[in-house]
Amino acid sequence: MSIHIAARPGEIAEAVLLPGDPLRAKFIAENFLAGAVQYTAVRNIFGYTGAYRGKKVSVQGTGMGIPSISIYANELFRDYGVKRAIRVGTAGSIRENIKIRDLVIAMSASTDSGVNSIRFGGRNFAPTASFNLLKTAYDTALAKGWLPQVGNVVCSDMFYTEDPEEWKLWAKFGALAVEMETAELYTLAAKYDREALTILTISDSLVSHEATTAEERQISFTQMMEVALETAVS
Ligand code: HPA
Repeated sequence: MSIHIAARPGEIAEAVLLPGDPLRAKFIAENFLAGAVQYTAVRNIFGYTGAYRGKKVSVQGTGMGIPSISIYANELFRDYGVKRAIRVGTAGSIRENIKIRDLVIAMSASTDSGVNSIRFGGRNFAPTASFNLLKTAYDTALAKGWLPQVGNVVCSDMFYTEDPEEWKLWAKFGALAVEMETAELYTLAAKYDREALTILTISDSLVSHEATTAEERQISFTQMMEVALETAVS
């Protein structure tokens, strides 16, 4: 047991999917994993272990934002020896050519968060995906006939920013989408010498102000899950 996860040693797989929403973790366990068993419900942030294509995979909710995912990623890497962590989440597009429902793979993550300036004493660290996981995910998506967008995402500490046009600066420098967890996940994977990847579906667009319907979210969610699970067991 770690402070925030009630699993016993060995109950969490080496490969873990990380949705922000704990009910999403439950949904993934019930619909994509065989024989899933719940190992934690501390704070109602659920975690399950089951099998995909006969290989052990876990799915752990992380909550929203850097402080929350930081707690779960630290404990998964440090206390449970997790080797591959794949975040499956949603993001807001900040590019005209990236539409709602599109699949985005985060190669790197910029951030407005203070965590890495604190951690590195004012120096800049560049949170980067595992090339191995990224290549596998990209190739898997292509093989299924889907073309993911791959690049830099913005990991923001604020969903509701003071300046609603703040995203435009990031977009000017080529960032693809905004979310709230990846910079910390990639930094911690680097710290513990593990592999991490973030796969996102675009749920809304800061450019066009469109948002996905529940049905559209379901289709793109299933695509993201297939890519994430194939990558997890590869
Ligand atoms: N901002 C931050 N995180 C998000 C967004 C957004 O617009 N959409 C989905 N996750």
